[in-house]
Amino acid sequence: MTQADRDRLERLNSMLKRRGIILPAFEIHGGAAGMYDFGPLGGRLRNKVNQIWLNHWLSQGDIVEISCPTVTPFSVLEASGHVGEFSDFVISCLACEQASRADHLLEDIHPNPDSLSMEELANEIASKNPACPDCGAVEWGQIEAQNLMFSTTLGAGSSGRQAFIRPETAQGMFTNFPALYRHFRQRLPFGAVQVGKGYRNEISPRQGMIRLREFNMAELEYFIDPEENSKHDFSKWSTMKFNLVPDSSDTINTTIPQALDDGIIRHPSVAWFMASTAELLFHMGIDASKLRFRQHESTEMAHYASDCWDAEILGSYGWIECVGIAHRGCYDLEAHENYTGQRLRAWRDWPEPVQSKRTLVTIDGSTAGPAFRSQAGAVKEALEKMDAPPTTYPFKLTLSDSSIVEIQQEHVKIEDIDETINGEWFTPHVVEPAFGIDRIIWHLLDHAWNEEEKNGEQYSVLSLSPSVAPIDAAVLPLMEKDGMDELALNLHASLCSMNGIQSSHDASGSIGRRYARADEVGIPWCITIDHQSLDDGTATVRRRDDQKQIRCKIEDITLHIRDGKMNSLFE
Ligand code: GLY
Repeated sequence: MTQADRDRLERLNSMLKRRGIILPAFEIHGGAAGMYDFGPLGGRLRNKVNQIWLNHWLSQGDIVEISCPTVTPFSVLEASGHVGEFSDFVISCLACEQASRADHLLEDIHPNPDSLSMEELANEIASKNPACPDCGAVEWGQIEAQNLMFSTTLGAGSSGRQAFIRPETAQGMFTNFPALYRHFRQRLPFGAVQVGKGYRNEISPRQGMIRLREFNMAELEYFIDPEENSKHDFSKWSTMKFNLVPDSSDTINTTIPQALDDGIIRHPSVAWFMASTAELLFHMGIDASKLRFRQHESTEMAHYASDCWDAEILGSYGWIECVGIAHRGCYDLEAHENYTGQRLRAWRDWPEPVQSKRTLVTIDGSTAGPAFRSQAGAVKEALEKMDAPPTTYPFKLTLSDSSIVEIQQEHVKIEDIDETINGEWFTPHVVEPAFGIDRIIWHLLDHAWNEEEKNGEQYSVLSLSPSVAPIDAAVLPLMEKDGMDELALNLHASLCSMNGIQSSHDASGSIGRRYARADEVGIPWCITIDHQSLDDGTATVRRRDDQKQIRCKIEDITLHIRDGKMNSLFE
């Protein structure tokens, strides 16, 4: 980053804080690294981004929203692999004792330090001697893996259960698979989304909104039958070209369906979610020329992924991963099934039923009934699950309630049966687009913020898309007298009472100052109430992006703001 870029970043952060968009959290207590507040304007910006995200996916028709707890029992995250695998490598400076993420020390030295193993990182650090970002020293201690999850306890004392605050929302979608499967009447494909907080105890969060310890995430798990041909429609994206950076290769500029045909993107659902993600990001206001998709190298992928493409956005911090679109295969459902013994599968009908002979192991009711009494049904169920007849007697059989019974030969009947088999149970595969909402919001602000000089003063405009702008319109009475104040307040109240619309009423200072304040926080429309408004019910509307002004009926203005069609008044 050049000094000019650093200065711009400082001015942007200062505006975001001063105007209540994004503020360091708990600042009056000295702050907390890696945590931010969304202030009076930022809270609404985040809410609008979340809502656009939800609407985009829910409008597909086969996706539902769920919400799961953030505190997650140990067993869930042990089953998912996070207890064992969810780590970053940490190394401490011997001079100042500050810990750093080992790969981050190599960012200006190595093309993709995230893909290096612990040993490779240690070797690179020993040979390249990167400087400590805190004190500049070049003496480093031992490198270690640090699990990123925050641990907590559910309950108190010795009966308390170890738990974590979730590092991703995804696990709730997997543990809900049976409810989702029922909801969709046992038919794949379908998806679930969840918008909420994720938590990672990042080693040294130094990049503002980019690396947070508590962050807003929005994830979608799309469950598919790996043997079913994809029905995705790519026609909308047949000509739109994207920059793709395939696994360790040079950037190519091509369409998503072409990259799929060429085998660069390996799976149709991954390709479809890449295209749909781009559409969503553009709708929010991400500059299309600053988006690319980069495929993970195999050593860089999360422990659950078999293919992953990141949507990276170019901003003040360079190219930053904002969305990961991962093919998680059957990893998660299989992991939870193996851990819990609960079946997390879907049924696949075969085109033709198959006749088959099978050896069935079951109970002989005349002897097992009296021997096992109320447990006889459970014994039958457990015997019938045996793949082959027992070879020795007596033997121990574990029942579904985990009790163990001893089975004698006289309790068992072996039958050869004819069966018609219509299909099979299988573990669905999952494609997951996971969005870092804070990173997206940061880039929306970074791309929208423009500075210029006006009358010798610094002037800044936040050209946010009206779809995410926290305030839809500013109502400005030219003067607070003669009824202009009352008319303006009524208009402000009427706009705020409309579903999803927020206006701001600003009566202080010159009209020029008020326009500047509105431009600085991205209010797309300023409505000025003047003397003429009292006579004929019209007002001046000023468009933020070109500062053009027109005069319109106030009722037309309110209706056009409600319908998101203000630009048509200017045509
Ligand atoms: N679930 C994807 C992630 O945690 O980044």
